[in-house]
Amino acid sequence: MSSPLPAPEHKAAFVREMFGRIAGRYDLMNCLISLGRDRAWRRYTVAQVMDLRGTDEGSWTGRILDVATGTGELALEAFRQGRGCQIVGLDFVSEMLVRARQKAIKEQARLEWVMGDALRIPCADGVFDAVVTGFALRNVTDISAAFTEMARVTRPGGRIACLEMARPRLPLFRQLFAWYFYRLVPLLGQWIAGQRSAYTYLPHSVSVFLSPDEIAEVMRQTGWDRVRYRRLMGGTVAVHVGVRVASVRQV
Ligand SMILES: C[S@@+](CC[C@H](N)C(=O)[O-])C[C@H]1O[C@@H](n2cnc3c(N)ncnc32)[C@H](O)[C@@H]1O
Repeated sequence: MSSPLPAPEHKAAFVREMFGRIAGRYDLMNCLISLGRDRAWRRYTVAQVMDLRGTDEGSWTGRILDVATGTGELALEAFRQGRGCQIVGLDFVSEMLVRARQKAIKEQARLEWVMGDALRIPCADGVFDAVVTGFALRNVTDISAAFTEMARVTRPGGRIACLEMARPRLPLFRQLFAWYFYRLVPLLGQWIAGQRSAYTYLPHSVSVFLSPDEIAEVMRQTGWDRVRYRRLMGGTVAVHVGVRVASVRQV
C-alpha cells in the first residue's frame, strides 16, 4: 500500500488541495473526532495568550494573528474572549477562508482574513502582540521556519500559543487511541465527509510529527522564550506557550 503521506517536495500542494476538498465538512469532522472537545481546547489555547498578557498590562486590547486559521475557529474564539482586540486570520486555502468569513459575519465579528503562507507571512516585523495557531504545524513543510516567521511578526515580549495533536504516553491508552485514530477516524472521514484519504493522512501525520518536547526545543531555537506546554485529553493534544525574545535569529 502506498504511504498516505506526501513526499516533502509535494507536501504544500498536497495540503492545499486536501483542505480545499474538506473545507465544507471540516468543522463537523473536528467536532466528531475530538468527541466535542475541540472548542474547549481552543478556548484554553486563546486564554493562554490573553491571560499572560493580562497579567502584564491589564485589559487585552492587542493585535492577534491566527496562523493557518482554516475555518477561523481560533480567531473567532479570540474575538469572543477579547472583544477589544484586532484579530487577523491567515491561511493559504481560499475554501477554508470562505467558511471563516461566513462564520464571522454570522457572529457579527469584525475580523480580518488574509490569504497567505505561514512560511512567508505578509505582515511587517513585530506588528502583533500575540500569535495563535491550531492543528497547523504538522501540515507545514518546515516547522522551524514557521516558528521563526511567527516570531518575526510578533513584538518582543509578545505571546504565542500553539495547539497541536500529540501521541499519548500511557501504553494501554496509546493502543486504544491508535485503534480509534487509525481505524475509526478514516471510516468517519469516509462516511461523513466522503474523504477517507484526508482522514487517513491525519493519523499518519501525527505519527511522524515531533513530540511535545521536540516542539518546545524548536520554539526555543526560533525566537521563543519561557516555553512550556500542557497535555490535554489524555495526552492526545498539547498546547505550547512562549514569549517572543528581544531579537530573533534568522533562519
Ligand atoms: C487542520 S487545519 C487547522 C485550522 C484551524 N487552525 C483550526 O484550529 O481548526 C490546518 C490549516 O492549515 C492551513 N495551512 C497549512 N499549511 C499552511 C501554510 N504554509 N500557510 C498557510 N496555511 C497553511 C491549511 O490550509 C488548513 O486550513
